[in-house]
Amino acid sequence: MRMSLLRSASQHLRRRRGYSSTPAQPERKVAILGAAGGIGQPLALLMKLNPLVSSLSLYDIAATPGVAADVSHINTRALVKGFVGDDQLGEALEGADLVIIPAGVPRKPGMTRDDLFKINAGIVKGLCTAIATHCPNALVNMISNPVNSTVPIAAEVFKKAGTYDEKKLFGVTTLDVVRAKTFYAGKANVPVTGVNVPVVGGHAGITILPLFSQVNTY
Ligand SMILES: NC(=O)c1ccc[n+]([C@@H]2O[C@H](COP(=O)([O-])OP(=O)(O)OC[C@H]3O[C@@H](n4cnc5c(N)ncnc54)[C@H](O)[C@@H]3O)[C@@H](O)[C@H]2O)c1
Repeated sequence: MRMSLLRSASQHLRRRRGYSSTPAQPERKVAILGAAGGIGQPLALLMKLNPLVSSLSLYDIAATPGVAADVSHINTRALVKGFVGDDQLGEALEGADLVIIPAGVPRKPGMTRDDLFKINAGIVKGLCTAIATHCPNALVNMISNPVNSTVPIAAEVFKKAGTYDEKKLFGVTTLDVVRAKTFYAGKANVPVTGVNVPVVGGHAGITILPLFSQVNTY
């Protein structure tokens, strides 16, 4: 009853602001965990600009209200809400279709991605446990490093909770793909927007394998 009242209030607000969805733009909730960080903030901006997103939930352990306020001022249809701390994690995740996780610590000079394991493994485990409870059917995009290990940790948490679906858990390695394209285009002196470099493997050191023999230009 309370949920349906909340839903109709949110639909009313959306209609008043002219943000109502059309059949071509279905309702889609995206949650970003670690939304106040160096990756989380520009990612929140990109999601707010994405016309496929109708609801954007920004969660972090600090500073999210300010980030959410700033992002909410962009005149696109997604309604933005900020959530801070463990107590609000469940609400941030409730009903999410996609959860993107850049939470944790980044590398400092001299560190490898594997050096981040001790801290980020615990963070990812906690967040994935909450995902299994509050949005077990969501797609999960893992950005937190070391991705080669945080994805298996997420998989084990979901298996334990009985919610694992291998088609819904992704490690984000777009960085390797865009870098491979940019570096190749620079060396080969071809337009950077007209080159495709397949990259296979993982997302750490020598596990990143750009297949330069398979490059397409168009
Ligand atoms: N996969 C990739 O291609 C890729 C690219 C860049 C960075 N990364 C990784 O992304 C992660 C974040 O990098 P960054 O530069 O944004 O770091 P950052 O320190 O700027 O931001 C991390 C954010 O995570 C938050 N956080 C910490 N613990 C949390 C928790 N339990 N719940 C929610 N939020 C929490 C912090 O408060 C902070 O706002 C790092 O692990 C980094 O290595 C991955």
